[in-house]
Amino acid sequence: MTVVPLQLPRRLLEFTLDGEPTRVPEGSTILDACRAAGKDIPTLCEGDTLTPKNACRVCVVEVEGARTLAPACSRRAEAGMKVSTDSERARTSRKVVLELLASSTDLSTTPRAAEWIKEYEAKPDRFGPDAARVNETPKIDNDLYVRDLDKCILCYKCVDACGDQWQNTFAISVAGRGFDARISTEHAVALPESACVYCGNCIEVCPTGALSFKSEFDMREAGTWDESAQTETTTICAYCGVGCNLTLHVQENEIVKVTSPHDNPVTHGNLCIKGRFGYQHAQQRG
Ligand code: SF4
Ligand code: SF4
Ligand code: FES
Repeated sequence: MTVVPLQLPRRLLEFTLDGEPTRVPEGSTILDACRAAGKDIPTLCEGDTLTPKNACRVCVVEVEGARTLAPACSRRAEAGMKVSTDSERARTSRKVVLELLASSTDLSTTPRAAEWIKEYEAKPDRFGPDAARVNETPKIDNDLYVRDLDKCILCYKCVDACGDQWQNTFAISVAGRGFDARISTEHAVALPESACVYCGNCIEVCPTGALSFKSEFDMREAGTWDESAQTETTTICAYCGVGCNLTLHVQENEIVKVTSPHDNPVTHGNLCIKGRFGYQHAQQRG
């Protein structure tokens, strides 16, 4: 069943998007308008369940008369505004952002990163082989999830999901400054010694795979992770009476990870440890 949340009707406003008159409901972002018009704008730190952080700047567009480029994910459309999504200035900016990110972090598990690097002719190699920002081995300190900070672009989505936007556990935050900045538990303790309750809501929003299920991490290491061979089935968690939706990702008859639909009006993609990781119980066949 699709649940359509009731809202007050919003007025439409008109602006120009790449030379075309465009009408969107008041309060829409430029990114909302682009998506409605079928325009493909790269995004990384934007999340459909989170307040925009404006951290990555890969979504920038040009607004006529503005001194600086605007992040499409957070800038709201205004009546009469003239926006160019594919100007030379916007494309150059996206290219440089992709070069800086891809030269300093491992984007190998970031969906569409390779495609964008090609599209914008980004050349991350021009910064040389020593540009890696973190360069450390993945943190495997529990049986449920792995933190591979070489893949972290410091988008803050996990911090927001763990903190005041959803989970209110505040187990992780950004520690350090500049090149040393990284996602960390308090005093950099291992996850089992931290406040983490293993809800996995940080994994749900991480755009790069820096945070991943241990099952996915192990299968990627073994070379057996194959999304094209996986099915996704959405069902209802049986562990308690709340009735959260679970999407089971199954490969070769094994549940390999569990996500949750972001458009669910109650849970918005969030779960607790039972829904997120309790699938191992369902797979006990002995
Ligand atoms: S699993 Fe939950 S509690 Fe633990 S760091 Fe992630 S969001 Fe925070
Ligand atoms: S771990 Fe993932 S969600 Fe968290 S800041 Fe890094 S890239 Fe973003
Ligand atoms: S996606 Fe818009 S600033 Fe990151």
